[in-house]
Amino acid sequence: MTKCFKAEVISKEILSDRHFLLRLFIPADSLRPRAGQFYLIRTGTSYDPLLRRPFSVFNWDNNYMEFLIMKKGRGTEQLLQVSKGMFVDVIGPLGRGFPLPERGQQPVLVGGGIGIAPLYLLAREIDTQKIMLYGGKSRDELIAMEYIKMIGDTELRIFTEDGSEGIKGTVLDGLREVLTDVESPVVYICGPGQMIETLKGLEDLRTDEVYVSVEERMACGIGVCLGCAYPTREGMKRVCIEGPVFKLSEL
Ligand SMILES: Cc1cc2nc3c(=O)[nH]c(=O)nc-3n(C[C@H](O)[C@H](O)[C@H](O)COP(=O)(O)OP(=O)(O)OC[C@H]3O[C@@H](n4cnc5c(N)ncnc54)[C@H](O)[C@@H]3O)c2cc1C
Ligand code: FES
Repeated sequence: MTKCFKAEVISKEILSDRHFLLRLFIPADSLRPRAGQFYLIRTGTSYDPLLRRPFSVFNWDNNYMEFLIMKKGRGTEQLLQVSKGMFVDVIGPLGRGFPLPERGQQPVLVGGGIGIAPLYLLAREIDTQKIMLYGGKSRDELIAMEYIKMIGDTELRIFTEDGSEGIKGTVLDGLREVLTDVESPVVYICGPGQMIETLKGLEDLRTDEVYVSVEERMACGIGVCLGCAYPTREGMKRVCIEGPVFKLSEL
């Protein structure tokens, strides 16, 4: 059930000059989000910026929730300034998350850059063997590796476009290769807008079993303002209600 509440900052872990992990204390009745769902967080104590910003759940446990955040503009810059003991204004959980694999399906998780955030939780929720492809332009974009390497039952393959870490190439190159080897795959993808646009052009991947989390700017987060409308094959859909996870065949 979606709730609006104040959450205390437990810690803020700096992971790079652009990335940090924000750990919030969350009232127990606001917990149990599904992987792929998100929360809207007010980034400052005033109404500037006016709109809360959306962030996927990276991880949660009995009384805390973690968000993996990349500094982008004014809001995320403000969040980087919060410190232990402060309170932030939060709404969630929101949107539709990733469906879990069915028996016999081989999960393949594909994350580009900060797109790894919802996939980390998904990988922890899937208790069978999975393949995870994680990539970025260069090694600087591979964040939270110390957490990702600890996920159980996971074959992790790393890609960088400049070859500075792992296999030289993109995660989509890696996905094509994996799909030639694997029977009954179910694919989960989250990455930057450009990666999702490229993905939409790959007609051979348009099977029913590819799920993509897309990004759009948000305002209300509850389906009222239509600010997050996103083009699909069945017309415009609201990322905050019908998404953020869509079947690739819908896009
Ligand atoms: C469902 C969902 C889940 C998300 N999960 C995460 C997450 O786990 N971690 C994370 O770091 N980020 C996540 N984002 C993106 C995050 O919400 C934006 O980076 C953040 O709102 C930027 O706020 P800002 O005030 O710092 O930047 P702004 O000053 O608002 O914008 C800076 C630049 O980023 C662009 N931008 C801002 N928001 C978006 C957006 N939603 N989509 C595309 N471009 C945008 C703007 O056009 C502008 O060019 C998610 C977005 C969505 C929709
Ligand atoms: S953000 Fe208002 S309808 Fe989605």
